[in-house]
Amino acid sequence: MTALTLSTAAAPGLRADAIVVGVAKGANGPVVAPGAEAVDKAYGGSLAGVLETLGAAGAEGEVTKLPAPAGFKAPLVVAVGLGAEPEKDSGYGAEALRKAAGAAARTLAGAKKAAFALPVLDASDVGAIGEGVLLGAYSFDAYKNTAPAKSGDKAKNGKAPLAEAALLGAKPRDKEHKAALERATAVAEELNRARDLINMPPNDLNPEAFAAIAQTAAKEHGLKVQVLDVKALEKGGYGGILGVGAGSASGPRLVKLSYTSGKAKKHLALVGKGITYDSGGISLKPAGHNETMKCDMSGAAAVFAAVVAAARLGLEVNVTGWLALAENMPSGSATRPGDVLRMYSGKTVEVLNTDAEGRLVLADALWAASEEKPDAIVDVATLTGAMMLALGSRTFGIMANDDAFRTAVHEAAEEVGEPAWPMPLPEHLRKGMDSPTADIANMGERMGGGLVAGLFLKEFVGEGIAWAHLDIAGPAYNEGGPFGYTPKGGTGTAVRTLVRLAELTAAGDLG
Ligand code: BES
Ligand code: MN
Ligand code: ZN
Repeated sequence: MTALTLSTAAAPGLRADAIVVGVAKGANGPVVAPGAEAVDKAYGGSLAGVLETLGAAGAEGEVTKLPAPAGFKAPLVVAVGLGAEPEKDSGYGAEALRKAAGAAARTLAGAKKAAFALPVLDASDVGAIGEGVLLGAYSFDAYKNTAPAKSGDKAKNGKAPLAEAALLGAKPRDKEHKAALERATAVAEELNRARDLINMPPNDLNPEAFAAIAQTAAKEHGLKVQVLDVKALEKGGYGGILGVGAGSASGPRLVKLSYTSGKAKKHLALVGKGITYDSGGISLKPAGHNETMKCDMSGAAAVFAAVVAAARLGLEVNVTGWLALAENMPSGSATRPGDVLRMYSGKTVEVLNTDAEGRLVLADALWAASEEKPDAIVDVATLTGAMMLALGSRTFGIMANDDAFRTAVHEAAEEVGEPAWPMPLPEHLRKGMDSPTADIANMGERMGGGLVAGLFLKEFVGEGIAWAHLDIAGPAYNEGGPFGYTPKGGTGTAVRTLVRLAELTAAGDLG
């Protein structure tokens, strides 16, 4: 992981591989963003002009490299686009800074040290740049023989992530700046850990392995952890989780991770879908629809990361994470379409499609979470292809049993820079899940499939508990090229929203 420092050093004398500066889209061409005055001065005030000559416009995501001015210790200047220049006296905004820092950090793979001379108005900007650097520098190459053992390792041709980033313009002695850096580090490190879990191949990350990783992390961070294995799940009557895991040689698990603060007044429960591989089961997915299905545990990874981050930040709130882990496979012991499962809540479910498995494992975990009567429950799941069709691959859908709570979750997502959008839970879609045999079927109308899944989950939330459901099927896994601070593969979406929700709950501003 990249090491972050706050520095008051001046750019010219800095020993580094590169100096990163911001360039924005001005009314008459690119403009150099504040923070890079010393760099611009060393170019004789012509940096904007030089960048324009090189074809830079200041657009978001744009990266331009140029030789550093004479007299600089660092050999390279990297200019990153910040998008439109803001109105006078207002800042660039956290998300523009996060994205620019991320794009720069990604380009600087292989470098040992870079200084970031981006515009910093306040502590929130420091945090955003820090997060952007740590998230943008991420790469997953644990399975590549070309991966360098460490930064600067020339023996292999892979590039190690940027080793060190100094944030200029931030104040190393300022309490708020230091706190922002610490928060950014904890959140980004845990988010990157969620990405690692998502990217891990499913032959290595099965439910048992995931549970073991959670146990190790719990020990490290002083969390309480409880793992229900197949025997315990059978004893407890967790028919949903067992039914989904029945076809796999790797049995399912329900992991409960508890972070408790002595000063907590509220309790937030987080529930994550953790299908370590979704083949569809007997309702097998066709080729072309299963290559990325290792990502189907992204919800559980996000919950796991958020609980650990809450502990690292010492938030004054109790946070319980429930990881509903199973592998959805076809076999002679697999659940069949037509089987009826008796769920942990006591409800019976007719399984019409074994590929609608996420709602089954979540239903048991939601009911278990509800038994503790938390102030609110938020579940996170790569639940439906329908949500991807509705919102595309960068935005997650938010459903809830309470409009005000849904709005609060949406605002938290916006605040941290995670694209999300509110979706309804129309009651009329419930009758599509009526079953002639059981209390409910696991499938309903095809149209509005994401909302149907949300309505199913709602039936397993305890009376009177505020609940929101995040369907992250779109943004969980980036099949396209990297952008901003988002890499290819597992993205870690929802982690930052969950951490923000825990902070808001601690402050008494939620639930
Ligand atoms: N894990 C999938 C949803 C998914 C699709 C996630 C694409 C990420 C990318 C889920 O278990 C699933 O298969 N859902 C079905 C439900 C249907 C059978 C009612 C779907 O969306 O097609
Ligand atoms: Mn499925
Ligand atoms: Zn699934």
